[in-house]
Amino acid sequence: MSAPASLSFPLVCAADLEAARVAAVRLLAPFAHGPRMLARVKTIVSELGRNVVQHGGGGTLTLALTPHAQGVALRIEALDCGPGITDVALALSPGFSTTRGLGLGLSGSRHLADRFEITAPRGGGTLVTAWVWL
Ligand SMILES: Nc1ncnc2c1ncn2[C@@H]1O[C@H](COP(=O)(O)OP(=O)(O)OP(=O)(O)O)[C@@H](O)[C@H]1O
Ligand SMILES: [Mg+2]
Repeated sequence: MSAPASLSFPLVCAADLEAARVAAVRLLAPFAHGPRMLARVKTIVSELGRNVVQHGGGGTLTLALTPHAQGVALRIEALDCGPGITDVALALSPGFSTTRGLGLGLSGSRHLADRFEITAPRGGGTLVTAWVWL
């Protein structure tokens, strides 16, 4: 693996998601992958990014290639300084939404990722991190 690549995208509105999706697809390019891998990554980037905009009042999406036991992982971090998630288990229940959404973005992303974490950064907000083994 060459030098670790890390790219950050400010997310203010839904239109900002496209640049992050394009960058994620570019990062995958050197690795052998099929359409399912592409769909998984694009969906996770879109759903976590959409939550940053819709629920977190905007924030940052960061993509990084990181080493892991079986090779290389794409790490997707969605960070915001919004109100935070009080009940993480509830937020991860399929169908739960505080904004009349489908309530499938978080649970679906967790399902698609190889590793998934939701943490509350010091000072408030939400950090959701998903890893996909490449
Ligand atoms: N970054 C965030 N900050 C605060 N709350 C969040 C954040 N992300 C998710 N949530 C909470 O978790 C709930 C579930 O999120 P999820 O993405 O699954 O559904 P949704 O965004 O409401 O609908 P959709 O299915 O359209 O994504 C949200 O309704 C919201 O209450
Ligand atoms: Mg959502």
